[in-house]
Amino acid sequence: MRTVPSHRATTKQLSGAYPFVCESGLGGQGVLIGQDLLGGPFCYDPFDLYRRGILSNPNMVVLGQLGKGKSSLIKTYLWRQGVFGRKCWVIDPKGEYGVLAAHWGVKPIFLRPNGAIKLNPLDDPRGGRDYAGGTVTVRRVELLTAIVSSSLQRILLPAEVSAIEMAVCDAEGRNWQPVIPHVVEALLSPSFASATALRTTVNDLSSDGRQVALELRRLVSGDMRGMFDGPTSDGISLDAPLVVLDLSAIYGSAALGTLMSCAMAWLQGIVEKLADGSVADGMPDGAQVILVVDEAWAVLKNPVVARWLQSSWKLARAKGVSNIAVVHRASDLLAVGAAGAEQIELAKGLLADSETRVVYSQPPGEVALASELLGLSSVETGIVSSLGKGTALWKVGQRSFLVRHDLSASEYRFVQTDERMGGLGAY
Ligand SMILES: Nc1ncnc2c1ncn2[C@@H]1O[C@H](COP(=O)(O)OP(=O)(O)OP(=O)(O)O)[C@@H](O)[C@H]1O
Ligand SMILES: [Mg+2]
Repeated sequence: MRTVPSHRATTKQLSGAYPFVCESGLGGQGVLIGQDLLGGPFCYDPFDLYRRGILSNPNMVVLGQLGKGKSSLIKTYLWRQGVFGRKCWVIDPKGEYGVLAAHWGVKPIFLRPNGAIKLNPLDDPRGGRDYAGGTVTVRRVELLTAIVSSSLQRILLPAEVSAIEMAVCDAEGRNWQPVIPHVVEALLSPSFASATALRTTVNDLSSDGRQVALELRRLVSGDMRGMFDGPTSDGISLDAPLVVLDLSAIYGSAALGTLMSCAMAWLQGIVEKLADGSVADGMPDGAQVILVVDEAWAVLKNPVVARWLQSSWKLARAKGVSNIAVVHRASDLLAVGAAGAEQIELAKGLLADSETRVVYSQPPGEVALASELLGLSSVETGIVSSLGKGTALWKVGQRSFLVRHDLSASEYRFVQTDERMGGLGAY
């Protein structure tokens, strides 16, 4: 029997000769994102892909220049995932998820200085049981070290970290449910037992922790008071399909990254409890959660906070959480202040823990870095500098797709952030 010689070509070339060829895609499971530009619809679900072994973690990073459609993708993605019963939690620094929340019939949680709602980032939702990263004390020390380091814009000295450790232990000893003012008090007036444990005097320990205390005090009595400085307010419901923490009141503040970290710490505590299948408020056992940090560049700026974020992302699989960070440029992943090699290592670490990378158009000066960090091929590198609005390169595990995100007319109403586009008529 005569055999035809084999011929290998790209999907794009083949579809010229035989128009009915298209990418096999990732299968039809999950939510429809839009059109694979090499043919066929593009569907995506990180939990399903993880189960099928295509992804080894469910986290995602979305990068793109201003106005290219990052938040629109996330809003419609969450809306569509809602059909599958997924819980969606969003840290919303610009206050732009309110319209989506209204569509869903829920109200965002507004956090503002001296506002009606407080969240305690030192909450212990697991009631004394260890967390995946260690004990509740370790978790609190790591968070406080990260937020103080972020607001002081430097790495803390060993004596300062020790002062935080002792203050957290003192605050825990003195209070059943510590809050940040308790830690500030313990930093300013350390106990004799803490000083003895560190073979120092109460006065020396107090001066070691003084700068830390004064910085934390801003959250308690400074310009940022009234958001993270007391017990979590009653009546915050987490059983809604969408929970939005609206931080727009402090969007322009230099402390935005610090405050976003506090909000994330609070949410992560809840997520860990959720992983136990023991959250009250009607949340089903083992619910899969999608946790979005929009404008995540503000959090990633500081190397200590970036490390802290990365360590919590590592735990995502165990907790059934898909984390999504939205940033503008590849360089947003490089923490400011870290040494060059450490910056790259941190960024690569975060990307290694986010096997789905959605890359919208990058400015020319960022393309080389994006290519290095994301491991883009030369063809992909050429593509990412010229992508139009709504079209992105999706890198999902080892595979790449060029996807145009499609919006329905009803979805367009809750993604509109560009007033100049002229409303629905422009669609
Ligand atoms: N796929 C799309 N098709 C058509 N219009 C879109 C699409 N995606 C976004 N838009 C429009 O583009 C505008 C900007 O989108 P969006 O706010 O999502 O951008 P962004 O990348 O999040 O911007 P920023 O970096 O400023 O946060 C919106 O008004 C939205 O209506
Ligand atoms: Mg946006």
